[in-house]
Amino acid sequence: MSKPQTYDPISRINHWIIAVAMIGMVGFGLYLGFVDLPRETSTPLIDLHKAIGVLVLIFGVWRVGLRLVQGFPPPASQMPSWQETASKAAHWALLASVIVMPVSGIVASMYRGQPIGVFGRFEIPALTENPGIAGLAGQIHEFGGIGLAVLIGIHIAAALKHHVFDKDTTLTRMLSSRTEKASETR
Ligand code: HEM
Ligand code: HEM
Repeated sequence: MSKPQTYDPISRINHWIIAVAMIGMVGFGLYLGFVDLPRETSTPLIDLHKAIGVLVLIFGVWRVGLRLVQGFPPPASQMPSWQETASKAAHWALLASVIVMPVSGIVASMYRGQPIGVFGRFEIPALTENPGIAGLAGQIHEFGGIGLAVLIGIHIAAALKHHVFDKDTTLTRMLSSRTEKASETR
């Protein structure tokens, strides 16, 4: 498959669906992890966090897989090489998080001996408890989640910097194809 020159409509829709889902799930997770809630409130909320997370993983495999197959388009504008490297590293880390966050949550739950119900449709079974694996997966989930919150903040700031200060098409080409068409006809 030849390398894309910009983001096609499916890539844009995939980006925004997963963006909303991941921002929501990070916020939801941090709320569950760091706000002291009574058990009767936290249990159904944790179950909901888990069920949504499994759906995010299913959609995320398609979203990340498509990017791996297509590759990344070249940057929208010329930028210093350190910025290009930082942007590539951030995009790879964000893609990885779409898989690593739900998988670590699922592995932690399974090895804590807790099955994961997904809206009554199907259930991921519990495995024999293994505190070692559950603890490691739980730490990846926790520190990964905190790191991801920071990374998403930087990613949004970078997108806004391109739009407001550099005045290039980095943000608009992720929003619509009109920018590309307009610049092609110029
Ligand atoms: C879409 C991906 C997901 C994201 C971005 C995400 C994010 C987070 C974050 C940031 C936390 C707070 C840090 C922590 O206490 O570990 C958290 C907590 C948690 N997550 Fe996730 N999560 C996702 C999917 C899942 C899945 C699929 C499961 C399990 C099936 C899961 C299970 C949990 C559990 C059990 C907690 C701990 C809640 C508590 O401490 O009371 N997460 N999540
Ligand atoms: C309001 C929130 C967000 C904004 C404004 C935003 C904006 C953008 C923009 C403008 C690009 C294009 C960059 C370029 O062409 O070089 C981009 C790419 C990307 N963004 Fe976001 N983004 C947001 C949230 C997220 C979130 C939460 C994730 C987490 C998974 C994410 C993951 C990615 C990835 C992996 C790329 C690389 C291209 C792709 O595969 O889609 N973004 N983002």
